[in-house]
Amino acid sequence: MAEVVILDSRAAAGALVADEIVRLVDEVRNPVLGLATGSTPLPVYEALRERLAGHDVSHVRGFALDEYVGLDVTHPESYRSVITREVIEPLGLDPELIRVPNGALETVRHAGDDYEREIIDAGGVDLQILGIGTDGHIGFNEPGSSFASTTRLKTLTEQTRADNARFFDSLDEVPRHCITQGLGTILRARHLVLLAFGVAKAEAVAAALEGPVSAMIPASAVQLHPHVTVVVDEAAASRLELADYYRYSYENKPSWQGI
Ligand code: PGA
Repeated sequence: MAEVVILDSRAAAGALVADEIVRLVDEVRNPVLGLATGSTPLPVYEALRERLAGHDVSHVRGFALDEYVGLDVTHPESYRSVITREVIEPLGLDPELIRVPNGALETVRHAGDDYEREIIDAGGVDLQILGIGTDGHIGFNEPGSSFASTTRLKTLTEQTRADNARFFDSLDEVPRHCITQGLGTILRARHLVLLAFGVAKAEAVAAALEGPVSAMIPASAVQLHPHVTVVVDEAAASRLELADYYRYSYENKPSWQGI
């Protein structure tokens, strides 16, 4: 069962996850971070700015979950641009060691396999940050995605395009395709940290954690993983039947246990 941590602010959630990432960076020889884009992980990156200052980060590797297909890599909303702006530059990471799937149309046929190989060659992901879509996606694995899927081309649902339209001038500009790590790729990471904030995510969070394991709710794949931490605010936790138990369990956790 996933550990569910219910906190009262995004900043507290960001701090909790950032502390775990700092521990990895300091203690693991070749730390590999699984990076997410969207609004959800921003409090983590924010908290890391202060916490990582003065630490050696020259050895930190990272793999983003996904990228739009057919959007120029220099577009401000390409995930390469977002990761550069929100993660690489403020944290002082080596851009060569931080990878984002290649969404160029010309190479998209083999870009998924290339990315899988890169992740394996890096030794796999130590800690994967995940957001969740209102349709239950993780990465861009939309409903119906195979639990064994690897990095590949996917078509975005209209719901996801509408959710992401806020980053573009109009809905028409939101790409229709993406390249995303598969659910099988994500499940190979050693620790999954899923974050969700706000009432719009409450239903998807409850379905993912307490509903049946189903391709219709791709995030329910986390139920198959041995080390999952879910960090949510009160609003995103509001549909969880076991919320009181999660609170009790976290409050009574032995102090030596990390997340
Ligand atoms: P968001 O997106 O963090 O911008 O809400 C999450 C997701 O779609 O995975």
